[in-house]
Amino acid sequence: MSIIETCESEVRYYCRKYPVVFHRSKNAEMYDTEGNRYIDFLAVAGSMNYGHNNPYIKKAILRYLEEDRPINMLDMTTTAKNEFLETMRELILKPRNMNYKIMCCGPTGTNAIEAALKLARKNTGREGVIAFGGGFHGMTLGSLACTSDRGSRLGGHIPLPYVTHIPFDGTPEIDSLACLRWVLSDDHSGVEKPAAIVLETVQAEGGINVAGVEWLKAVRRICTEEKILMIVDDIQVGNGRCGSFFSFERAGILPDIVVLSKSISGFGNPMAILLIKPEYDIFNPAEHNGTFRGNQLSFVGGKAGLEFYVQNEMDKAVAGKAKLIENYIKENILTIDPRITLRGIGMIWGIDLSAIEPWLADRVIRLCFTRGLILESAGRKNSVIKLLPPLTIEDEVLTEGLSILKEMIREAVAK
Ligand SMILES: Cc1ncc(COP(=O)(O)O)c(C=O)c1O
Repeated sequence: MSIIETCESEVRYYCRKYPVVFHRSKNAEMYDTEGNRYIDFLAVAGSMNYGHNNPYIKKAILRYLEEDRPINMLDMTTTAKNEFLETMRELILKPRNMNYKIMCCGPTGTNAIEAALKLARKNTGREGVIAFGGGFHGMTLGSLACTSDRGSRLGGHIPLPYVTHIPFDGTPEIDSLACLRWVLSDDHSGVEKPAAIVLETVQAEGGINVAGVEWLKAVRRICTEEKILMIVDDIQVGNGRCGSFFSFERAGILPDIVVLSKSISGFGNPMAILLIKPEYDIFNPAEHNGTFRGNQLSFVGGKAGLEFYVQNEMDKAVAGKAKLIENYIKENILTIDPRITLRGIGMIWGIDLSAIEPWLADRVIRLCFTRGLILESAGRKNSVIKLLPPLTIEDEVLTEGLSILKEMIREAVAK
C-alpha cells in the first residue's frame, strides 16, 4: 500500500484518476518517477495556462527567492504587490478601458466567489443570487449554493439557500432569457429580486457550454436595468483561455465584478482576486480578511505571467491553436461516429459522448491515461471529454495528444 492509500483522506480524487507518482513537469509535459511521459490536456484545472515551469516566470521567482524577499505578508504593502497591481493596471486594465479596483482575496477561487457574493449583498441590501444550471463556482457554502451539480451540493449536508438556478444559454428546448426575465418581472415568480447574477461565460465543469454573445449582452442589459450586480466568474476561462485575456471581451461587456484565480498567479501558486467597479468597492477594512492574501510568490509570478502573456501575443497564439484543435477534431474525431458532438472556444473544448453512452467519456479518459495523455471529463454524468491544455503547448505535442485521443475514442466507441 502506498503512503497515499494508508495516510491520505478518502476525499482524494485526481490521484485516483492518474495513479502514478508525478515528479517533473515542463510546459505541457509531465513525467512520473519511472520516467514515463504524459501530455497535459488538463493544465491543473486551468491553473497552468502559461505552461509548467514557464522559464520567464520561473526566472522572476528564483531571483526573488535568491534576494531573501518576504514570502507571506497578509495585505501589507510590499514591492512585489505594488508591482503586480501596477502591471495588472498598465498591461491588462488600461488598454481595455477597464476602471476597476483590485481586491486580494484568500488564495482560492471559492474564497473570491464568497467575497463577490458578500459584496453584492452589501451593495444592494438584497440576499438572493441568480446562478445557472451547469455552473460551477466552488465548494464552500456560499459558492456551493451557486454551484449546480447535485453530487457537489449534497456534500454540503445542509440547505444551500438564497440562490435560484436558471437554465443556461443553449439549454435544449428552453429559452434561458425568457426564464430569467419571467423570474425577475412576474410578481408571482416566487423569487425576490436578487443582489447578483453570477455566471461563467463558458461553463467549464458544466460541460463546455459557451454562452452566446447576444445572451451575454442581454444579461448585462438586464443587470443594468434592474440594478443587479453582474458577477463573471473568470476563474477557469479567464487569463487568455478563450482567446482574449477576459472571457467576456468577445461580447463587449463589462461585468460589475470579475473573479480571477487559477492562472492569475502565472506559475501555479495560489492566488485569487476580484476586479470591482469602484462604486461597488465598499467593504470596510478587514471585512473579508484572511491570512494568505499576501503570497508574494503569487504576486511575482502573476506580474511575470501578465508580461509573458502580452509580450508573447498569447491571443494570436491561442487563435492559431484553437483552429488546429477544432479542425483536427472535426476531421478526425467527429467522423468516428455521427453522435459525437463538439463545443468550445479558444483553448477549451468539449467532446460530448452523451448521445452514445454517458459513461463513455470516463472510459476514454482512462484509456488515454494508459497512453500518456492526461485529461478530465465534465458536464452532466461526466459525459464530456474536456480539453484544457496549457496555452503554450507546442503544436507537435498538441497534435500528438489529439491523435492519442482520436485512437482511444475510436477504440472505446468500437467496444
Ligand atoms: C469556474 C470556477 N469557479 C470557481 C472554482 C473554484 O476554485 P477553487 O477550486 O480554487 O476554490 C473553480 C474551480 O475549478 C472554477 O472552475
